[in-house]
Amino acid sequence: MLKVEEQTPVAFSSELLVKFDEIITRYPSDKSKSALLPLLHLVQAEFLWVPTSAMDKVAEYLNIQPIEVYEVATFYSMYFLKPQGKYALEVCRTGPCCLVGAEKILDHLEDKLGIKEGEVTADGLFSFRGVECLAACGFGPVLQISPEYTFYENLTIESVDKLIEDLKNKS
Ligand code: FES
Repeated sequence: MLKVEEQTPVAFSSELLVKFDEIITRYPSDKSKSALLPLLHLVQAEFLWVPTSAMDKVAEYLNIQPIEVYEVATFYSMYFLKPQGKYALEVCRTGPCCLVGAEKILDHLEDKLGIKEGEVTADGLFSFRGVECLAACGFGPVLQISPEYTFYENLTIESVDKLIEDLKNKS
């Protein structure tokens, strides 16, 4: 995965474009705009976020106006509109998870990682944020890691510490 700074124009790799070409075959030729969501997911997986210049390139690829991409990318909260860590930790902060300690998990992440919500650690590995319900309400506190969307349930301070250490060792 590539990391780019906010103002750097992105270049799409030939591998990414091959994936685009495969996705677009799933849709009728006059409905290629319907491929927008999966294409943005591919962009996010490649760059860890969705830079504006990438949205412009997606618009060009789909032969639509850039604003049509911006309005979709800014509507869905799963698209990151600024750089994230390699592991973007998203903690559910909706009521049921808060009742079982989600806010303590968020506070702990801030202390453990030494960053505020939305920031990225100096080594580029981690960022975190609170998000709305992740649809695992009976197993809170819950977090998911983007861009793979792996889930971790029944979190404790100890299990969060272990998760971070495991991710560090994996990198
Ligand atoms: Fe946390 Fe639904 S309230 S997953």
